Amino acid sequence: METFEAILKRRSIRRYKGKEITEGQIKKLLEAAMAAPSAHNNQPWEFVVVKDKEMRSKLSKVHSYAWMCAESPLVIVVCGDTDSLQWIDDCSAAAENMLLTGTEMGLGSCWIAARGTKYSGKDDEQVIREILGIPKTIGVLCMLSFGYPDEEKAPRTQYNEDKIHRERY
Ligand SMILES: Cc1cc2nc3c(=O)[nH]c(=O)nc-3n(C[C@H](O)[C@H](O)[C@H](O)COP(=O)(O)O)c2cc1C
Repeated sequence: METFEAILKRRSIRRYKGKEITEGQIKKLLEAAMAAPSAHNNQPWEFVVVKDKEMRSKLSKVHSYAWMCAESPLVIVVCGDTDSLQWIDDCSAAAENMLLTGTEMGLGSCWIAARGTKYSGKDDEQVIREILGIPKTIGVLCMLSFGYPDEEKAPRTQYNEDKIHRERY
């Protein structure tokens, strides 16, 4: 699959079939993540791979927009060393690489909020940190759910000329 095709094909898929994702596929997703650009090549990312049903069930209850973690056979929690000034930028690049690689592999995926939201009524990042035993110095950017899609969404471009400013804003 061409990169641009994967970019348009990637949609937030929240319904998954039960089919397992292999360790080989997980390794490929993580390899894609770690090939991302990062400021000074700091690579501040850390990943928590969650397959366990009980753990996924806990993550699904963190907030009302995380329910698909219970259904998806795989959740990868994208974290980063907060001592690294640009950890959010770096980890976002790593996360998107995983979404696109998943798309290429025929997997559906969804980015689930963790950092900066209080959908749970508490700091969502802190709630996830406690569930997974993530140290305080490590930030939690997002959770990514992956699975074979059980819903279809059409590829699309959201190209909008109004968002483009040439030479100056
Ligand atoms: C920072 C960020 C946070 C998001 N949080 C959630 C979330 O908590 N739950 C969810 O179902 N989707 C979440 N999404 C997915 C968006 O809703 C989705 O990307 C958007 O509606 C566009 O649809 P598309 O991904 O199919 O192109 C998030 C996406 C981003 C980038």
